[in-house]
Amino acid sequence: MKMIDVIISRRNTKQFKPTPIPEEKLISWLDTASYAPNHRMNEPWELLIIGPDTRAKLKHKTDFGGAPIVLVILSKPAPTSFERDENVMAASCFAQNFLLAAHEEGIGGYWSSLGALPHNRDILGVPKNHDVIGVFGMGYPDEVPTARARTSIMSKITYLS
Ligand SMILES: Cc1cc2nc3c(=O)[nH]c(=O)nc-3n(C[C@H](O)[C@H](O)[C@H](O)COP(=O)(O)O)c2cc1C
Repeated sequence: MKMIDVIISRRNTKQFKPTPIPEEKLISWLDTASYAPNHRMNEPWELLIIGPDTRAKLKHKTDFGGAPIVLVILSKPAPTSFERDENVMAASCFAQNFLLAAHEEGIGGYWSSLGALPHNRDILGVPKNHDVIGVFGMGYPDEVPTARARTSIMSKITYLS
């Protein structure tokens, strides 16, 4: 696929086949994602790969659509709110890279924000002051949602003199 097609065709996937994903594939997409932009090369992302006990405790409404892999992307804390925001930005770039790398190989991702809720942070053992970028179910899609139309980009652009 051309990069432009990878970007446009990625969808937040909510129903997965149980087909397992080889560990080395997962690691390769995460490794690719590490080439995300990040200020001062601080690489602020950290990962939690969720096992069955932790997954059950999260009580997600559809158990992440039956995804064979569930993982969490965290962003490291920083001494100032400015740098913390930068870390969240870089970790979000990492997340998008990860989703696109997986999607290119036919794997869908389910981005859920439930990990940021206080009781779920406790279940996940998220260290104090780390930000939760998201909890991601990953697997071969059983259903691929239709893309929802985007607002014309022209309405988002302001030209400055
Ligand atoms: C920060 C963030 C949090 C999100 N949290 C959720 C979520 O909790 N549940 C969910 O169904 N989708 C969540 N999504 C996915 C969006 O709903 C999805 O990207 C959006 O509907 C556009 O669909 P698309 O990704 O298929 O283009 C989240 C996306 C982002 C960027």
